[in-house]
Amino acid sequence: MPLGIYIISIFMTAQILSAKPCVEKVKQDLKKRCESLKARGCHPSMSVILVGDNSASMSYIRNKKKLCEEIGAKFTLHQLLPGISGDEFLNIVHTLNNDSATHGIIIQLPVADHLAVLNLPQLVTPSKDIDGFHGENTRKLFEGSTDLKLLLPCTPKGCVNLLRHYGYDVDGKDVVIVGRSLIVGKPLSLLLTNLNATVTLTHSRTKNLRELTKKADIVVAAIGKGHFLDRSFFDPSRKTIVIDVGMNTLNGKLVGDVNTENVKEVVSAISPVPGGVGPMTVLSLIDNLITAAENQLKG
Ligand SMILES: NC(=O)c1ccc[n+]([C@@H]2O[C@H](COP(=O)([O-])OP(=O)(O)OC[C@H]3O[C@@H](n4cnc5c(N)ncnc54)[C@H](OP(=O)(O)O)[C@@H]3O)[C@@H](O)[C@H]2O)c1
Repeated sequence: MPLGIYIISIFMTAQILSAKPCVEKVKQDLKKRCESLKARGCHPSMSVILVGDNSASMSYIRNKKKLCEEIGAKFTLHQLLPGISGDEFLNIVHTLNNDSATHGIIIQLPVADHLAVLNLPQLVTPSKDIDGFHGENTRKLFEGSTDLKLLLPCTPKGCVNLLRHYGYDVDGKDVVIVGRSLIVGKPLSLLLTNLNATVTLTHSRTKNLRELTKKADIVVAAIGKGHFLDRSFFDPSRKTIVIDVGMNTLNGKLVGDVNTENVKEVVSAISPVPGGVGPMTVLSLIDNLITAAENQLKG
């Protein structure tokens, strides 16, 4: 590479929006809140219901358990056999919903097909729904809430907290979200709209995706296709900030939806995979657990 181009490319290398400094800071605050609850006789406790032994699920669960232990919260895994009947499954959720020593419940997805038809997001009682998927919790987003202390879906909350940690305000910004899932794209589009961003929510039937991403101040990729977005999706003059939600396996490696190596000279900032949105999501989950325990103690 000629020296001049080499020097320019060094100056244009994107800022890496690592979750680590934010996680370390917030963890201390969560620890204090957990200690304060324990001093008042309430030991925050998370229960995770896992059906089977999906290896990706086991890895996500280990991260949740680790963070719970680090801040001093209790963690219990309820691992159920894949053949468990719908009634038995509902009984377990019902028991945890009514257990005053359990403050947060997660039904780890995916579950077997015969359970997936049970309208899972609505099974956990809203006050213990630390995933933030229950209609009563997501309704707050439809009503225009910007309060990140509510039990809101964790990945959208994590994306916004990551941007905030690095001083990026979304107010008035053009944001393109790629992917409209119920757990990422849709709730994030509402949260960012409430925070005064102008949001374009795109999906597999969107025409001219590149034209949209090239005009955005912020692009959020939540597609589930490793390295889908390359430099052809960005206009260097826009100095785009990229939040990569994707977690995919490509050639045996965990990679995002964005090809970071390929885009790092044409965007101004990008969250890494691993080490970006993933840890921010777990952090939001633990924050939701502590909030749920605080709310339940208040009564
Ligand atoms: N880091 C974290 O904490 C975290 C949390 C959740 C998910 N994830 C990761 O994020 C990724 C997305 O997860 P998800 O659950 O949201 O996925 P999902 O439910 O499979 O949804 C994928 C979305 O991407 C859209 N899409 C697919 N191909 C596209 C294309 N060629 N152009 C534009 N849009 C396209 C789909 O459009 P249609 O609706 O038209 O099909 C759909 O809306 C996955 O890699 C997942 O592992 C990470």
